[in-house]
Amino acid sequence: MIHTGLQGKVVVVTGGAAGIGRATAERFLAEGCFVSVWDVRACDAAYDYQRVDVTDTASVQAAADAVIARWGRIDVLVNNAGILRDGQLVKYKDGAVIGTMDDATFDSVIAVNLRGVFACTRAVAQVMIAQKSGVILNASSVVGLYGNFGQTNYVASKSAVIGMTKTWARELGRYGIRVNAVTPGFIATEMVQAMPAQVLDGMKQHTPLGRMGQPEDIANAYVWLASDAASFVHGAVIPVDGGIVVGT
Ligand code: NAI
Repeated sequence: MIHTGLQGKVVVVTGGAAGIGRATAERFLAEGCFVSVWDVRACDAAYDYQRVDVTDTASVQAAADAVIARWGRIDVLVNNAGILRDGQLVKYKDGAVIGTMDDATFDSVIAVNLRGVFACTRAVAQVMIAQKSGVILNASSVVGLYGNFGQTNYVASKSAVIGMTKTWARELGRYGIRVNAVTPGFIATEMVQAMPAQVLDGMKQHTPLGRMGQPEDIANAYVWLASDAASFVHGAVIPVDGGIVVGT
């Protein structure tokens, strides 16, 4: 049996009220961790919940302070909160431009998926540096590696998360803080199930394992990365995607 070393650890999961984040919070709870979920959406689960908008720096700092006041430390941060606002860069039909991705659509996704990860990590890393230990896990995506039609803003944010992961691995490793990213394939959550049926079928066809992932598939990867079993895994980008090759 692998010793996880997770019993009694304090874990923050952003976006933990639904989907992958919720499965992740429950998985850490099952490992005997103290879990704090930071989300804009209400959550009635059995762990600490704080209403936090990750784009709001003051609210992020207040949430970090509240976790410290309650438990005295933060051992794991899972930067999972994320949104989609899809649209083509330029939509062109019958010889005319019929739409573009507007600035607000671009900025809204960057604010949550990129600046939110930055703001949460900046607040929590200070705590972890003082502790001389910690694990930071970032939600990227397969599309951050391969690009995806109609997702300029989302892909920009998810590629940038990989860049920040590698940068923080270099900056924070000396303090005993490990930093890694996960690139999920297509996971059956509300975010993805809202997509048209033909897109979902296409995803399955391009996944050698022939199915969509479940939120628990990603939660298991986070738990492993946070555990002592991954104590030499650092600056890594771990695909959990059923072998998908996007765009083929
Ligand atoms: P979801 O939409 O089911 O859950 C996202 C959670 O984040 C929600 O509870 C939502 O309220 C919260 N959230 C949104 N904006 C927030 C904000 N400003 N502040 C705090 N919380 C906020 O999404 P899902 O599918 O569980 O995805 C979780 C993460 O995994 C996201 O970062 C997503 O981009 C990433 N991912 C998901 C994939 C999928 O196939 N579902 C594939 C690759 C990556």
